[in-house]
Amino acid sequence: MITNQRWTPESWRTKPVAQSPVYRDRAALADAERQLAGYPPLVFAGEARKLKQALGKAAGGGAFLLQGGDCAESFGEHSADNIRDFFRVFLQMAVVMTFAAASPIVKVGRVAGQFAKPRSSDFETIDGVTLPAYRGDIVNDIEFTAQAREPDPRRQLEAYRQSAATLNLLRAFATGGYANLENVHRWMLGFVNDSPQSERYQEVADRITETLGFMRAIGLDAEAHPELRATDFYTSHEALLLGYEQAMTRLDSTSGDYYATSGHMIWIGDRTRQLGGAHVEYCRGLKNPIGLKCGPSLNPDELLRLIEVLDPQREPGRLTLICRFGADKIDAALPPLLRAAKREGLTLLWVSDPMHGNTIKTSSGFKTRPTERIAQEVRNFFAICRAEGVYAGGIHLEMTGKNVTECTGGARAISEADLHDRYHTYCDPRLNAEQSIEMAFMVADLLKAQRLAQPERPVRAAE
Ligand code: TRP
Ligand code: MN
Repeated sequence: MITNQRWTPESWRTKPVAQSPVYRDRAALADAERQLAGYPPLVFAGEARKLKQALGKAAGGGAFLLQGGDCAESFGEHSADNIRDFFRVFLQMAVVMTFAAASPIVKVGRVAGQFAKPRSSDFETIDGVTLPAYRGDIVNDIEFTAQAREPDPRRQLEAYRQSAATLNLLRAFATGGYANLENVHRWMLGFVNDSPQSERYQEVADRITETLGFMRAIGLDAEAHPELRATDFYTSHEALLLGYEQAMTRLDSTSGDYYATSGHMIWIGDRTRQLGGAHVEYCRGLKNPIGLKCGPSLNPDELLRLIEVLDPQREPGRLTLICRFGADKIDAALPPLLRAAKREGLTLLWVSDPMHGNTIKTSSGFKTRPTERIAQEVRNFFAICRAEGVYAGGIHLEMTGKNVTECTGGARAISEADLHDRYHTYCDPRLNAEQSIEMAFMVADLLKAQRLAQPERPVRAAE
C-alpha cells in the first residue's frame, strides 16, 4: 500500500508519471533542477499554514473560497497591467461576496506558477505534420514548429522568475494600499454603472455604499484600521510538472515538515489523480493545503481512498475537493461523493469549478464556454450541497481582468460570432472582467441564501 512506503520529495519518481514531457537533453534538465533547488522559496511555510487554517474555517462553514485566474499563464503576456487588471477584478468579486456571505472570503489566485498544462494527447497533428503537444510555457512554446515544441528545461527557470515577479507585485498590491476596501468599492460602482444590466446590481452596490458610509461615520476607516487597507492573497497552481515541484520543495525549519514553496496551495488534476501515480505520491508528503479535482469519472470508493492517502490526519483545510462535472453531469455525479464523505464523518471543503466540464467547440473551431452553462453548474452545485446538508465552500474560476471574448453570453451577450475578436487564451476560454464580476453577483445571491438557511450560525462582526 502506497502509504506504508517512506515519502521523500523524490519518491514520486518510482511511480508512473502521467502527463510528463520527454526532455531529450537530460544534462540540461538536471542543471535546471539543480539551480531551482538552490533558489529562494517563492512562498513561506507559515503562509501555507495560515491558508490551511483559513480553508479549514471554510470547510466548517465559516468562510468561502474564491479561487481564480488564467487557465495557463504565459511568458508572452507577463505585464504589470495584466496582473493589476486581474487583481482588480478579483478584489471586486471578493467584496461583493464578502458582503453577501457575511463571512470572510479566502482569496486564492490561479497565478504566479500556473504554467503547466495536461493534454488529452501527447502529440498534435496539423496538415499531416505531427509534433509534441503544447504543455504550457514552463515546458515548450505554443508555436507549431518542431523547435518550439521541443521541451526545454531552461523554461523552468523562466517560469520561476516570472512567478517571483508576479508574486512580488501581488504582495505589494495586497498590502500596499491598492486593495483598500474603499478603492475596490469605487471600482465596483464603476462596473455597475457601465453594465448593460446595472439595475440588477444596483441594490447590492447601494447597500455596500451605505455600510461603508456607516463604518466611516463611526471611525472605522482605512487610516485607522489596516485590515480595511490590506488583504491576504494566496497563490495556487496545478502540481503537474513534478521535477520543478520537487526542486521547489523545502524542509521548513520551524516544523520539520516539507512544503511545496512554488505556491501556497497546489492541486492534483483530474487526469493525474491515479492512486498509485506519481502526482498523488508527491502531494501526500507535503504539508501545504492540497486541492483535488473531481470529475465525472471519480467514483466514491476512489475518492475515499484518495482522502485516506492525502489527508490521513483529517486536518481541517488540508483537502479541497474541486468539483468539475459539467452542468449536465453534476446532478448525477456529485451527490454520491458528498454522501460517501458524509458517511465517513468527513468535513471537507467542497468547491465548484464550473469551467472545465462546460467546454464546447463552435462550428468555426473555437473552444468556448457558454456563461449560462457555467452559471447553471454553480447553481446546481449550491442546490445539491443544500439538499445533502453540506456547506458549499467555494468557487474556482478561469478568469482574466481583460476584456477578452472567449466565453459566450453575459450582460453584453457575446455571441459565437464575436469570439474571434479578442480570443487570447493560451489554453481554455476564460471569463472576461465583466463576466467575472457578474458571476460574483450571482454567487453573492447564492451565498446569501445559504447563509439565511443556516440560522444556527449567527452573523458575527468583522473577524
Ligand atoms: N481585510 C479584509 C478582507 O480581506 C477587508 C478587505 C480589505 C477586503 N480590502 C479588501 C475585502 C478587498 C475584499 C476585497 O476580507
Ligand atoms: Mn483550464
